Amino acid sequence: MSLSKFTIRKATLSDCNAIAAVEATCFPPAEAAKHEDFQKRLERYADYFLLMFDGDKLISFVDGFVTDIPDLNDKMYEDAGMHNPNGAWQMIFGVNTIPEYRHQGCAEKLLRLFVQNAKVEGRRGVVLTCKEKLVHYYAKIGFVDEGISADSTHGNVVWNQMRLTF
Ligand SMILES: CC(C)(COP(=O)(O)OP(=O)(O)OC[C@H]1O[C@@H](n2cnc3c(N)ncnc32)[C@H](O)[C@@H]1OP(=O)(O)O)[C@@H](O)C(=O)NCCC(=O)NCCS
Repeated sequence: MSLSKFTIRKATLSDCNAIAAVEATCFPPAEAAKHEDFQKRLERYADYFLLMFDGDKLISFVDGFVTDIPDLNDKMYEDAGMHNPNGAWQMIFGVNTIPEYRHQGCAEKLLRLFVQNAKVEGRRGVVLTCKEKLVHYYAKIGFVDEGISADSTHGNVVWNQMRLTF
């Protein structure tokens, strides 16, 4: 299946239900952001969500906010008010593709576009955290592993912080 038949756009508040449903499919409950979290995020930074659709079905998305704080911490996930549109660093909070659309490059396409947008906006770079098993995946896109995050332990998981600096 070719990725070109899928459409990509930024989010609006009305995407909240679909986004929360995809997140619940992709992450265990302790790690998944909830509907109310997405509601707050979308109210503050819907422009920093990239969504991919097959027709009108949401199949993949990437989201995150902008901040001058260089390291990602757990408070950022909950406190959408920390978004600073003039900040130096584009954070990534979520990368999701629903199971039946995986392994076709959906997430990679969104990630590359998300990174490109951050570059165009003049950010210093992009920061994310991920499980050890995905370090190789983000490294392919240009992220550098900075080791285990001291500031992010949500879901009682060990998270590696990775950074792509322009
Ligand atoms: C991680 C996740 C977002 C990846 O989504 P995806 O759309 O399948 O990602 P991609 O298709 O870009 O890449 C996934 C794999 O498929 C491979 N792939 C990409 N296009 C392919 C194709 N046409 N044919 C075969 N394999 C392909 C990629 O190389 C990658 O392989 P790798 O893991 O060996 O590097 C998805 O599995 C997910 O939602 N997981 C649960 C939530 C999660 O863990 N999110 C990440 C949080 S850090």
